[in-house]
Amino acid sequence: MNYQWYPGHMTKARRMMQENIKLIDLIIELVDARIPIASRNPDIDELGKGKSRIVLLNKSDLADAACNKQWVRYFEERGVHVLEVNSKTGAGIKAIGALVQKACAEKLERDRKRGIVNRPVRAMVAGIPNVGKSTFINAFAGKACTKTGNKPGVTKGKQWIRLNKNLELLDTPGILWPKFEDGRVGMHLAFIGSMNDEIIIVEELACDLLACLKELYPDLVEKRYEIRWREKEADTLGEIACSRGCLLKGENLNLNRAANIVLDDFRSGRLGRITLEHAE
Ligand code: G4P
Repeated sequence: MNYQWYPGHMTKARRMMQENIKLIDLIIELVDARIPIASRNPDIDELGKGKSRIVLLNKSDLADAACNKQWVRYFEERGVHVLEVNSKTGAGIKAIGALVQKACAEKLERDRKRGIVNRPVRAMVAGIPNVGKSTFINAFAGKACTKTGNKPGVTKGKQWIRLNKNLELLDTPGILWPKFEDGRVGMHLAFIGSMNDEIIIVEELACDLLACLKELYPDLVEKRYEIRWREKEADTLGEIACSRGCLLKGENLNLNRAANIVLDDFRSGRLGRITLEHAE
């Protein structure tokens, strides 16, 4: 299957990012902990040149706990400030304040030397669609914070959320676009539901997912559906359809329904905590 993103979306997203990036000191980049490579945009290095950076492994509750630890180590070894978070429950979010200070230490020191004190760090949340940006902003900013409103002349038209005296957050996240150079990127994005489902054949997608799971987490699938793996993924999907009573008229298997069950179970975490990309 050919997984793609529209060039028009990308042009618009890039323009918005370029505009907003001028206003900020720090980029808080969200990635999906289940696919930390496919859900990143390598252009962010170029776009965010000269800015402080933090990577958050969001949806860490859905990813394999041991893999989360490996990914944290992977990013740290590359000098990237990183944390695991769950924006839905707020787990991990408290630790971000201290990490912001660490990530911005050089900038704060430069400011201090120039006699600039008490100027809050300005940050923007960025990430590809569906990675959890809005959920994260809600969890991070909470209800207690106040919107600082427009600042004439400086940040015209932009809304800033004041989190505390040290940090302001742009209220609209930066939308990044995926990078499809490697064929697996589009496939992994489709697995997590970040692609337009209309252009996807769900049975094929579910078979591709089953092929990955057979390699990485074979037991989880066997246990959940009470089946044994077959040589071909389409036959395994048939087993799942049988086990789940997905039937059409005349005893034919409803593979479409079985495929949707597999995809939903994976996306919601019902299959278990799964990471599809592994740190070297
Ligand atoms: P976006 O702004 O980056 O496009 O993403 P958004 O916040 O809309 O989140 C996309 C989906 O991911 C939402 O689910 C949201 O609840 C879920 N999500 C965000 N962060 C986390 C997390 O850390 N863990 C888990 N498990 N889920 C997370 P949805 O099904 O679209 O909406 P809803 O039914 O949850 O409201």
